[in-house]
Amino acid sequence: MTSLNDIRATFLGFFETNDHRVVDSSPLVPRNDPTLMFTNSGMVQFKNVFTGVEHRDYVRATTAQKCVRAGGKHNDLDNVGYTARHHTFFEMLGNFSFGDYFKEAAIPFAWDLITKEFGISKDRLLVTVYHTDDEAAQIWKTYAGLPDERIIRIPTSDNFWQMGPTGPCGPCTEIFYDHGDHIPGGPPGSPDEDGDRFIEIWNLVFMQYEQFEDGTRRELGAQSIDTGMGLERIGALLQGKHDNYDTDLMRALIEACAHATSSDPDGPGRIHHRVIADHLRSTSFLIADGVMPSNEGRGYVLRRIMRRAMRHAHLLGAKDPVMYRLVPALVMQMGQAYPELGRAQPLIEETLKLEESRFRETLDRGLRLLDEELAHLPDRADLPGAAAFKLYDTYGFPLDLTQDALRERGRAVDVAGFDAAMAEQKAKARAAWAGSGETADAALWFDIAERDGTTEFLGYDTETAEGQIRAIVLGGAEVPEASAGDSVLIVLNQTPFYAEAGGQVGDSGVLRTDTGVARITDTRKTAGVFIHVADVTEGRIATGTGAELRVNHDRRSAIRANHSATHLLHEALREALGEHVAQRGSLNAPDRLRFDFSHSKAMTPEELVRVEAEVNAFIRQNSKVETRIMTPDDARAIGAQALFGEKYGDEVRVVSMGEAPTGKGLNGRTWSIELCGGTHVRQTGDIGLFVTLGESASSAGVRRIEALTGQAAFDHLAGQDRKLAEVAAVLKARPEDAPDRVRALLDERKALQAEVADLRRKIALGGGSGAEGGEVPRTVNGVTFLAQVLDGVPGRDLPGLIDALKARVGSGAVLLISEADGKAAVAAGVTTDLTGRLSAVDIARAAVEALGGKGGGGRPDMAQGGAKSAENAAAAIAAAEAALKG
Ligand code: SER
Repeated sequence: MTSLNDIRATFLGFFETNDHRVVDSSPLVPRNDPTLMFTNSGMVQFKNVFTGVEHRDYVRATTAQKCVRAGGKHNDLDNVGYTARHHTFFEMLGNFSFGDYFKEAAIPFAWDLITKEFGISKDRLLVTVYHTDDEAAQIWKTYAGLPDERIIRIPTSDNFWQMGPTGPCGPCTEIFYDHGDHIPGGPPGSPDEDGDRFIEIWNLVFMQYEQFEDGTRRELGAQSIDTGMGLERIGALLQGKHDNYDTDLMRALIEACAHATSSDPDGPGRIHHRVIADHLRSTSFLIADGVMPSNEGRGYVLRRIMRRAMRHAHLLGAKDPVMYRLVPALVMQMGQAYPELGRAQPLIEETLKLEESRFRETLDRGLRLLDEELAHLPDRADLPGAAAFKLYDTYGFPLDLTQDALRERGRAVDVAGFDAAMAEQKAKARAAWAGSGETADAALWFDIAERDGTTEFLGYDTETAEGQIRAIVLGGAEVPEASAGDSVLIVLNQTPFYAEAGGQVGDSGVLRTDTGVARITDTRKTAGVFIHVADVTEGRIATGTGAELRVNHDRRSAIRANHSATHLLHEALREALGEHVAQRGSLNAPDRLRFDFSHSKAMTPEELVRVEAEVNAFIRQNSKVETRIMTPDDARAIGAQALFGEKYGDEVRVVSMGEAPTGKGLNGRTWSIELCGGTHVRQTGDIGLFVTLGESASSAGVRRIEALTGQAAFDHLAGQDRKLAEVAAVLKARPEDAPDRVRALLDERKALQAEVADLRRKIALGGGSGAEGGEVPRTVNGVTFLAQVLDGVPGRDLPGLIDALKARVGSGAVLLISEADGKAAVAAGVTTDLTGRLSAVDIARAAVEALGGKGGGGRPDMAQGGAKSAENAAAAIAAAEAALKG
């Protein structure tokens, strides 16, 4: 039997041989289309190539594309498992031409592949064409030799394909397989076409137009080809099965499920196995592509799918989580074609196990409540909306899970009643919000959130994405559009821009639409709405249109590095200073990081050096930075650092990095584990370098470290180096000798200062040789009095001179007045034999006062004072003499 893996390889190989580039499947979360929840066909990643906006270095491509279809009003989820061909996850095989070949080659390629490579009998095949497409009909006739009655013209949109309300589109031709008249059903276009006899296997779209929002269409510059063939369908056909779930790949998953639940794959639990097999694929691939279960947006679709599968596992009688145990079987089947599956295997298993364990806690009680409600209802009556809402709100039953559970009993839910209950709850939440003291403009964001939903953040995985503009706020009020020169706040349905939170600053970058450009300077968030602070710089931007968003990459990279370094720093501090260290605040900006932590005393320089060295050692280790979603309790159980006093939701994001022999975490070797919603580097090596700028007090019991990483750290060190080189050049020394040279210079300076003081004293005392040059003492009131006016001797040198003068007079009083450094200093002295009747303090005070100063003090034998100037020195001396006279 040809396996699905072989069929995929044959398809890609056929087109590769025919000069097509084999292109990898794009992620399930479309990067380039804001209107799509999940990638739902092969052409999604080529959308902009078809319209000519984007160019690739090839004009022919072939892919096996992962697809998920499980959203929207008429979603398929309810049918999946019960029918032969409904899936939430499927693979679409396709070949694409971008302005290269058109119908004349696309039809022959398709025909050759299915009739020659796959060996499907020509007699079993028929095709449809758009009713006006004579050209396609003619090619089918001449190349494939199909008779007219097997080329059916269809006038409806069934044969005109468009990817959505806007975008590339064109007429298409579809290939059908006839299973034979023993199966009920009519050919396409007939009243009973929905039967199972004629099955569509391949759709070839002739991309010719681009559809716009206003309903108009333009002819594309180049005619292109987009084809899509569901692998599961063609696989069933080639394996001689009528049911996609009977193909080898799906069967392997069903059997793994039967084995894990010790039940018969084809017994009464048959439907449950099918549901689980399908949902295992969509959930695993979604998780591998970065979607995590949540209560909003894509994450909620994932959760709905997971919970639906879990209820079916419960119905199989499973007492413990089952889904995660099936992941190895899936990786075995599909891991080679999609390596991302193997890479994400631990994350997929952990996420499934967590979701399953948690949901189990309420599943039983919810199902019991459902039974009780039904017991009170008349036969076949719908379940009241309020009951369905209670199941949703209290027990985590998504509406479609309740519907699925009721389906088996032939009942439905009063959906209008459910919606009303939901609306009422939102109104209550709003009222609570209004009463929470938030600012008035919070109400505006709450209104927007309620009307348009919250913003989905895509920025963990990408820095560019498209979003739909939901609201523009100018001067506090919503406006339909804004023009160049306006400063506005913009809300989109999804964004790669990080909104300021947890110490990490908001992103900046550029927003572009078909009609204008805005510079985004900051991003904030309120009520789950991401607010892009923007200046419109060109043209105009309007709500309801798509916009390309581009985060400033260099800035974001620097922020990532700083944020990851903060985690490493936190752990290094705990190791160096003790377990009491806890985060008290942080800033992760592009140019620096700041980390506040509890610690009661200043760090020593040695501690700081040790911490810095440790952080750098973990940077060089270059270990992977990993992210998981867990319950707060599980996170704490593996040693995650949480912010003290912070409230966390049901699920937390856990970021871990670094490996250490005595680490923590599930493997006991993880160094840093923190609850964190921020963006981080992929590997610690991306931080590059870590340099602390210093440690200081932030508030009582809280210390602060400021630091740099990456280029900024390097620039800082290079700057320090340049300064050292400059110092060395001035010293005319090698940089390594600079400290010794500076020390020697300081010693020399000290010695010179002492010498200068000595010389000054000698000069003041008359050249140092007896009395020559010095003033002559006189006798006042029987006391020898020597007064002298000096120039340039600072006050601190005067006491030494006073002592010397006292020695010179032997017995008497001395006075020195000196002008230095722009002020006057006064010092007076009295020899000890006279201190009984005279005081140096009186002499000094009298002199200071005469100079226009105030005060003066000291001891009877030595006193000092100061004044602004020594201009009246003569008067000061006279005043001192007067003081001596008493
Ligand atoms: N885009 C078309 C489809 O989804 C062909 O790939 O059917």
